Amino acid sequence: MEVQSCSLSPSRLPRVAVVGSGAIGLTLFGKLVSLYRASSQSFFSSLTLVCRTEENARWITSRGGIALYHASKTETPATCASGDLEWCALQPPAVNVVDQQRFAETPVDLALVCVKSHQVESVAPLLRRMFERHREAGVVVPLCNGIGHVARLATALPADVAVLPAVTYLAAERIERHTVKIHGAGATYVLVRGSSHASMETRPKQAINAFSREACNAANTADQTERLRTLPASEGVGATRLPAPAPNASSSPALPVVTGQAALAYPVGTMLQPETLRATRRFQDDMHSEPWGPALHLSAAQCRLLDEDRGLCAWLNAARLGPALVTNDERPFVEKLAVNCGVNAVATLLGVRNGELLHLPDAWQVTESAAMEVATLFGLPHASIGPRLRQIVEATSGNVNSMLSDVLAGRVTEVDALNGAVARLSISRTNRPSVVNATLAALVRALSQRQHQAECCIATPQQTHPPDTIHR
Ligand SMILES: NC(=O)c1ccc[n+]([C@@H]2O[C@H](COP(=O)([O-])OP(=O)(O)OC[C@H]3O[C@@H](n4cnc5c(N)ncnc54)[C@H](OP(=O)(O)O)[C@@H]3O)[C@@H](O)[C@H]2O)c1
Repeated sequence: MEVQSCSLSPSRLPRVAVVGSGAIGLTLFGKLVSLYRASSQSFFSSLTLVCRTEENARWITSRGGIALYHASKTETPATCASGDLEWCALQPPAVNVVDQQRFAETPVDLALVCVKSHQVESVAPLLRRMFERHREAGVVVPLCNGIGHVARLATALPADVAVLPAVTYLAAERIERHTVKIHGAGATYVLVRGSSHASMETRPKQAINAFSREACNAANTADQTERLRTLPASEGVGATRLPAPAPNASSSPALPVVTGQAALAYPVGTMLQPETLRATRRFQDDMHSEPWGPALHLSAAQCRLLDEDRGLCAWLNAARLGPALVTNDERPFVEKLAVNCGVNAVATLLGVRNGELLHLPDAWQVTESAAMEVATLFGLPHASIGPRLRQIVEATSGNVNSMLSDVLAGRVTEVDALNGAVARLSISRTNRPSVVNATLAALVRALSQRQHQAECCIATPQQTHPPDTIHR
């Protein structure tokens, strides 16, 4: 297939896809739909929500839009006053909803990947199709929690498509196929690192309180002078990977080890082909040295897709989903990982809402210990994590976290991308286990296994399974 030259000239507006119609995908898509309709300024030329199933795409299309409820004002949609509902009407053909099969031939410049961490492999073929004909200016931004998914996605896509991690402190819950309850606003960060990007390297490291709008706005304003547009990148050159720091010899095993579900989604014991072995080893090395993904040189076109003047961050801010900013600071990413590792796993094991952890001293101690292990692993001062953890739990006290929701619904959890990934990274980097995170990961996995076993027994009451033959 012929590859077109860089098609994203400064005058052409980008084509955007949101992949995944869950809580985060619907929220981002809905807000961008509202922006498209309301703003006199054009930000993008097309906006498409890509659902996993045709059924979901049809459902949303037939409803004509996305409903966003703001839970801070009311608790349930049934009791919502009209002012609490934000109706985001589709506007075909520019703003529409399709399923992943129907998306096949539509080119895209920027894809926001809003699937669970363990689902990124399933969207890789779709993303390859999106970018294969004009990939020089392509940018993929996964908004998954946890670590490992960026390296895995980058491994599965052409090298010149930039895969950049984003973290969002937004809290949302899908309550219908086209309806989301937004529990809380929060900052969104896109991580852009590149050693030749002098202006980014020298940007002041900011301790941004992701839950304080004031603090975020201040940080955002300070950032106005340090923009991506100042990067000395040439138009039309795709993302170039910078050399990674060499991992420890001890972390590069002589034989590839597939360490479980989270590694490359290959079951343990799978015989891998040479191509896959190379990808697996590269992924392990990447995870060791660059858990948030590799540092990249971005082209000017790619920078424009993201920045706070004309790109993704500008759109999210204009859509009042901000503050959103491009940063080279990993701290918001580490803090989110620490909070997720502590709060999600412990609240899931106890079956409680986040806020209850504060009233259970023993549980809170475990929560803090898990978060501190993450801080230690990434060299973050413990003093900064404790207050942040408490603040976030207070702000989300009524939430049933996503890990607990997944367990209750019998879905795969993200524990392997959170506590499990931290435990593996700790061994790889320091040769010491993160005992609390490894234990929490094992217990959450055991909880899911127990649930599967219970379901199997209910489904086939006459059959008795020895525990190790029931699917895991
Ligand atoms: N929810 C939050 O408040 C929040 C906050 C911060 C970060 N995050 C992170 O953001 C990520 C997404 O979370 P979420 O809460 O939005 O999850 P979610 O509600 O489970 O949504 C995931 C969506 O991905 C879709 N999907 C899976 N495979 C797909 C494929 N091959 N093609 C197209 N769509 C596909 C699923 O489709 P189906 O609907 O058909 O299953 C589902 O709609 C997670 O990593 C989460 O940890 C979430």
